[in-house]
Amino acid sequence: MFSLDKLTDLAHNFMAAHIKAGDRVIDATAGNGHDTLFLAGVVGPSGLVYAFDIQKTALRETAARLKDFGFTDRVVLLQKGHETLSEYAEPPVSAVMYNLGYLPGGDKEITTSAESSLTSIKEALKILSPGGMLSIIAYSGHESGKKERDALMAYCSALDPHKFKAVQLTILNRKNEPPELLLLQKSYF
Ligand SMILES: C[S@@+](CC[C@H](N)C(=O)[O-])C[C@H]1O[C@@H](n2cnc3c(N)ncnc32)[C@H](O)[C@@H]1O
Repeated sequence: MFSLDKLTDLAHNFMAAHIKAGDRVIDATAGNGHDTLFLAGVVGPSGLVYAFDIQKTALRETAARLKDFGFTDRVVLLQKGHETLSEYAEPPVSAVMYNLGYLPGGDKEITTSAESSLTSIKEALKILSPGGMLSIIAYSGHESGKKERDALMAYCSALDPHKFKAVQLTILNRKNEPPELLLLQKSYF
């Protein structure tokens, strides 16, 4: 069961249908660790998750969540900007997840940015394996989020359709700038 009210659930469902046990995947914005935990469950004990966040407090929260489920060994936690992900994640990488914005319950001034997110997504697309999937949840309810969303939309809309498929999902009947889910898939050939 999942709710259409939550784009995070939708993203998980797309990813769960795509990722296989034993895969190597990335959580580019670990935050409170919900997506990292989800990915660690899907890749299983033979898989590996690289989880990035610039905030120590986010990684601490993520580490505690993983420990509760006994998933610590299958996750590499990195206090690094996700724009550096290709320096740390060893290919093949079958999936990369982004949930942009600020840490819920944390400092709202520390947020992802158009520049670093774009750099990161370009790097992620390079190391993604053929058929690999990337999900991005973007929020345009605040000024920097809107700038970031617009930059990502422009980039994704211009991707070569022979090399990538780009899909956009949103909640049509929610007022006030609903979040958006972008899904990108690298071609198999
Ligand atoms: C909306 S939260 C992520 C929520 C998380 N996926 C979860 O399941 O709880 C966004 C996170 O992105 C992090 N962040 C901001 N800039 C970043 C960057 N350049 N690289 C990696 N993480 C970044 C923030 O510190 C924040 O924790």
